[in-house]
Amino acid sequence: MVRTVLLRWPLPAARGSTRRSGGGLCLQSALPGSRAFRETVELSVAIDASCRGLGVGTSLYRALFDSIADEPIHVAVVGIAMPNDASVALHRKFGFTEVGTFHEYAVKDGQYLSSLWMERLL
Ligand SMILES: CC(C)(COP(=O)(O)OP(=O)(O)OC[C@H]1O[C@@H](n2cnc3c(N)ncnc32)[C@H](O)[C@@H]1OP(=O)(O)O)[C@@H](O)C(=O)NCCC(=O)NCCS
Repeated sequence: MVRTVLLRWPLPAARGSTRRSGGGLCLQSALPGSRAFRETVELSVAIDASCRGLGVGTSLYRALFDSIADEPIHVAVVGIAMPNDASVALHRKFGFTEVGTFHEYAVKDGQYLSSLWMERLL
C-alpha cells in the first residue's frame, strides 16, 4: 500500500534562488485503505507565491519521481482547479496528459470551480 510522501523545498536545484520561503509536494494513496487503489496515487503541490517560476516545482517533482522509481505505483493522478496554466505546464513537463474536466466541481468564495484531471502511467 502506498504511503504518504511529503517533500519540502528547499532542494538543491532551485535555479540559484536564495529565498527560503517554502513549497511542498504531497503524494498519497488515491483512496487510502482500499486495496483496489493500492497502486494509484494522487498528487498535490504548492509553491510559495514569492518562489514560483524559479524551477522549485520542477525540482520537487524530479525528487519525487526519483524517490518512487522502485515503488509499485502504476498511475499518478492530479486534479487542477482551473484556470492554472503553471500547474498544467508543470504536469505536462513530467509526462502527465489531460483526462478531462469535472465542471463546477467545487465551490470556493461563492464561485464554482472546474477541475482538470491529468494522469501519468508509471
Ligand atoms: C503550479 C506550481 C506548483 C508550479 O510550480 P513552479 O515552481 O512555479 O514551477 P516551475 O518554475 O518549476 O515551472 C514548471 C514549468 O511550468 C512553466 N510555468 C511556470 N509558470 C507558468 C505560468 N504562469 N504559465 C505557463 N507556464 C508556466 C515553466 O515555464 C516550466 O516549464 P519549462 O521548464 O518547460 O519552462 C506553482 O505555480 C504553485 O504553487 N501554484 C499555486 C498552487 C497550485 O496551483 N498548485 C497546483 C495544484 S495541482
